[in-house]
Amino acid sequence: MIKKEDKSIEILKLLVNSGDIPLSGEEIANILGISRTAVWKHIKNLVQRGFKIAGQKNSGYKLLFPTDTPIILSSKNFQTNLFGKNILSFIEIDSTNNMAKKIAKEYPEGTIIISEKQTSGRGRRGRIWSSPFGSGLYFSVLLKPKLPIITIPRLTILAGVVVAKSLEKLGVNVKLKWPNDIILENKKIGGILSEMSLEGNDIEYVILGIGINVHTENMYFPEEFREKAGSIRSVSKKIIPRNILFKEIVIELERSYLDFCNKNGELGDIRKNWEERAYGLNEMVEITTGLEKEVCTILGLKDDGTLLVRDGSGVVKEVFAGEVLF
Ligand code: BTN
Repeated sequence: MIKKEDKSIEILKLLVNSGDIPLSGEEIANILGISRTAVWKHIKNLVQRGFKIAGQKNSGYKLLFPTDTPIILSSKNFQTNLFGKNILSFIEIDSTNNMAKKIAKEYPEGTIIISEKQTSGRGRRGRIWSSPFGSGLYFSVLLKPKLPIITIPRLTILAGVVVAKSLEKLGVNVKLKWPNDIILENKKIGGILSEMSLEGNDIEYVILGIGINVHTENMYFPEEFREKAGSIRSVSKKIIPRNILFKEIVIELERSYLDFCNKNGELGDIRKNWEERAYGLNEMVEITTGLEKEVCTILGLKDDGTLLVRDGSGVVKEVFAGEVLF
């Protein structure tokens, strides 16, 4: 069974929307059609999970932290046709990608799983994706594309461009490091983990997991990554509300994905959009395709999403798998 804390999250939503005006237990109880004792239990649950709520049963409740929680958004908040029509919201979960896999068969394309915190957030290559409470944006989108399998890795490129454009709208200019890193001033502040399940030769589903360190403090990053990781706030001092960023990304992601599907998996303009923001373009960088590392110059992206590089002896190569190192 999926343990969703729907009523607690509904109360959270009322508190966010009420802003600085406290809401009494009675008001909440009346709106949600539950008892005042039930309201109090949900408030207690929210506080135990990490939310800071001022007030008592009688004086009214006010949410103090985190007021930008993205888990209160619902389909009504997005002007979309597909993405976010179903949103499964969690205060805490192991990994939104894991949950997306569990529900993939029964839920339609465009379903989003979002959590305020992940206890086992995963990155590429078996890495940990540190996902503390009140700090980041952690969500997964369930896709069921009717596309050739070979085009699926391009979705990571597409998602990177979408995240970059959404951040730009909010005044944060990032670079994209192939294949899936979001870089702000030489620190990794976000990443994309796409996972695919096949049914014979067909795609059963693809899960696009997006993680962005919005306010995350450095101490939360695993020690071995601390030097290379950062958050929008720690790097630029900018405070970007996570709920607004989430909305921007979902709207732009749907637009870009539907366009990509209509073009049968062609990247089209996305290739150019990616190159305009490419980290290390025309520079010498270290690239790994497994155990080996090689210093190459990044030349750009091919139409099919592979990375084009020139190696030390001047040979132009295509990189299908691997990553550009810092
Ligand atoms: C990477 O750069 O290695 C990819 C990081 C992807 C993290 C996101 S957070 C939401 C989703 N759930 C996970 O467990 N991972 C992805």
